[in-house]
Amino acid sequence: MDEPFSGTVAILGLGYIGLPTAVALATRGVDVIGVDVDDATVEAVAAGRIPFVEPDLAIGVSGAVGMGRLTATTTVPEADAYVIAVPTPFNGDRTADLSFVRAAAASIAPKLRGGELVVLESTSPPGTTEQVSRWIKGLRPDLAMPHEDEGVPDVHVAHCPERVLPGRIMIEMITNDRVIGGVTPRCAARAAALYRVFTQGEIFTTDAASAEMAKLVENASRDVNIAFANELSLICEQAKLDVWEVIRLANRHPRVQILNPGPGVGGHCIAVDPWFIVGMAPELSRLIRTAREVNDSKPRHVAEMVLERAARFRQPTVACLGLAFKADIDDLRESPAVDVVETLADLAPELDIRVSEPFARELPAALSGRPNVRMQPVGEAIDEADIVVLLVDHSQFTSIPRSRLEGRVVFDTRGAWR
Ligand SMILES: NC(=O)c1ccc[n+]([C@@H]2O[C@H](COP(=O)([O-])OP(=O)(O)OC[C@H]3O[C@@H](n4cnc5c(N)ncnc54)[C@H](O)[C@@H]3O)[C@@H](O)[C@H]2O)c1
Repeated sequence: MDEPFSGTVAILGLGYIGLPTAVALATRGVDVIGVDVDDATVEAVAAGRIPFVEPDLAIGVSGAVGMGRLTATTTVPEADAYVIAVPTPFNGDRTADLSFVRAAAASIAPKLRGGELVVLESTSPPGTTEQVSRWIKGLRPDLAMPHEDEGVPDVHVAHCPERVLPGRIMIEMITNDRVIGGVTPRCAARAAALYRVFTQGEIFTTDAASAEMAKLVENASRDVNIAFANELSLICEQAKLDVWEVIRLANRHPRVQILNPGPGVGGHCIAVDPWFIVGMAPELSRLIRTAREVNDSKPRHVAEMVLERAARFRQPTVACLGLAFKADIDDLRESPAVDVVETLADLAPELDIRVSEPFARELPAALSGRPNVRMQPVGEAIDEADIVVLLVDHSQFTSIPRSRLEGRVVFDTRGAWR
């Protein structure tokens, strides 16, 4: 086993992944400097507050800051290890946008003295971690980087993808198994020593490209399986069958485990990462592409189904419950619920749309400024609605008694009120 990690860690990107990682390290005695380009995020973390909602994160941040183990800044410091946890969205053509990763690597480069570890946590297409090594070399030709040869480099570079579930990040970050891919085996071993500080799951070391691909494959696998359930929901709807009952029965087979259908697939992992695989091999990724298309087509279908129900009212009011991409979180990125409301507002400007989202204070940019969409507390929205559409199975919604919905047309896209 490698030497245990000791030293200071700088984490670039204090979002859903970077901040919990910072807490996991800091609460185990590592000095962590959180770095973010967003002033408000840095200000919140430096004051021991969280900039977004995630169970058990608030107490971790206030504790780590209070102990003096976690600080936050907008300037990249000198450190012994750097963890890059910045966004990797896709471009207009759905190829990976690596500009944030490149900017992070560029901000680390001038701080390197030799002997450091640089870990890319951001989900990235195969080759990106090695590219980080090349980008640093481009800015620091004086340093021996690991992509150049198998000798001992000045800086070690590895990939450690994250596979936590929003809502359970603080638990899963510790208990999940980790895959760590090094640009060289020595890079992987150095990174493994860092992650051993807080990981209770098993750590599997491999090469960087295999680790990158494994992460994409995990998300594509989920996407394909959800697409199967979503396609079944369309077929069952046409056949006037209850898809949840059909799936419940099929899942009694010992080797069948069908997932739940819903209004689409969201978040910036499952809805994004499969496109990175399609981008690598467009001709060969037919199933993965189709799954994406099936899942992406679901919000429009849901909106059309709502309009079918609305046709029987003269001036219908529709309550849309939930905007987040999944239950009990505040993350609205790539959310199919937002797409459903946006499509409804576009297709039927005369519709009076009320939106309830307990995890958001205001409408997201895609919906704000639209005269026929406004936010309302859930009780009021239900009271005033002709049609109630459940888009997100937040506990606050699923616990609503059915009697409360009487007299309304109910459209439950999650199967939570069955
Ligand atoms: N959120 C998840 O559940 C999840 C799960 C697995 C993997 N991932 C991956 O982890 C990565 C980060 O995702 P996230 O959800 O934490 O994103 P996020 O948007 O919540 O946080 C990213 C943070 O990085 C900051 N940032 C951007 N450029 C920067 C730079 N150059 N230097 C310092 N900070 C910078 C942003 O201001 C933001 O605060 C992505 O690649 C994502 O695909 C996310």
